[in-house]
Amino acid sequence: MVSKSLFGTLKIGPFAGREVYLYKIYFPGSPLTITVSDFGAILYDVQFTKNDRKTVSLVRGYETLDFYERANDYMGSVVGRVGNRIKKGRFKLNGNTYNLYKNNMGNHLHGGQYGFNYKVYEAECTDSAHVSLLLKAVSPDGDEGYPGCVSYSVRYTLEKNGFTIEYNADTDKPTPLNLTNHSYFNLNGEGTVLDHVLQLDCDRYIPIDNKLIPTGEICKVSGTALDFNSPRQISEALRTKDENVDLASGIDHCLVFPEDSSYYCKRGSVYSPKSGIYMDFYTDLPAVQVYTGNFLIFDEFPFRGGEPEQKHAAICLESEYLIDSLNHEGFSDIVLNPGNHFYSKTGYYFGQK
Ligand code: BGC
Repeated sequence: MVSKSLFGTLKIGPFAGREVYLYKIYFPGSPLTITVSDFGAILYDVQFTKNDRKTVSLVRGYETLDFYERANDYMGSVVGRVGNRIKKGRFKLNGNTYNLYKNNMGNHLHGGQYGFNYKVYEAECTDSAHVSLLLKAVSPDGDEGYPGCVSYSVRYTLEKNGFTIEYNADTDKPTPLNLTNHSYFNLNGEGTVLDHVLQLDCDRYIPIDNKLIPTGEICKVSGTALDFNSPRQISEALRTKDENVDLASGIDHCLVFPEDSSYYCKRGSVYSPKSGIYMDFYTDLPAVQVYTGNFLIFDEFPFRGGEPEQKHAAICLESEYLIDSLNHEGFSDIVLNPGNHFYSKTGYYFGQK
């Protein structure tokens, strides 16, 4: 079932003045409910009812639309055209150099000033079970400096114990594309994720410099703070002496799955010993940006429910192609050409131990 309610009216960005909505998607009587907005294709809430009948909100979010517009942390939103960082906002494609909007220490981050997180999507609920929401948008030629007009969609589908996010896109000129979702998970619904236990099948990671831009190497995780092949508490990983983690004030790294992993399957999980809730993570993409909410430090933007922001108040698992691929040979090919269709799927599944 889908129920729709008014979220508010946008004040800033290319869609200022537009009314936007929240869509609550649920199976009557099922423990999992998701709420999605047609602004930024934001995953506004994931509510999970535990065995003791208490309901916990498993993603961080804000109460008001105004905070989503101003906080600049991509809270729950879909990110594009190219998620993550592009060094100096510059790339070459078919002999042309493109200059993108630089919104992060002289680099381009998550699609620029008004990326896919600022778009208003056309929302449709077309499936007969009414548990799927299709959000469609167009990114015009030249949007944030990117070439070509991209027509794309994001589909959230609720299942009994989880949900999937599917991305589809087409372009009329060659253009880079690396779409992800930027949800901030906290399986206790409060406090930090330092007690959460993370497991990821990633055998490599991409080292970064002090602006969080890749050095160009791809290194093995073994022996580093970023080795989550065996389940590991986040606080323990953060305590491990590691120059790369110091550079990012926590984990903010692109971790790479083994070479042969281009099909959709489970790639990791997060578990909170405190709530007993776990989340399994599925993707068909080659990497994941793991971000431990190191910059959730703004008193001005308390979370829904009034709890102030604090460092490590959440973890993002952003499925993606390799960071800054456009500027590194041997990373991913993220160029979408006319006539080639883009498709990708990520899933998050929940349960209680
Ligand atoms: C990035 C962080 C950034 C955050 C919010 C994450 O995906 O890796 O460095 O601060 O998004 O913008």
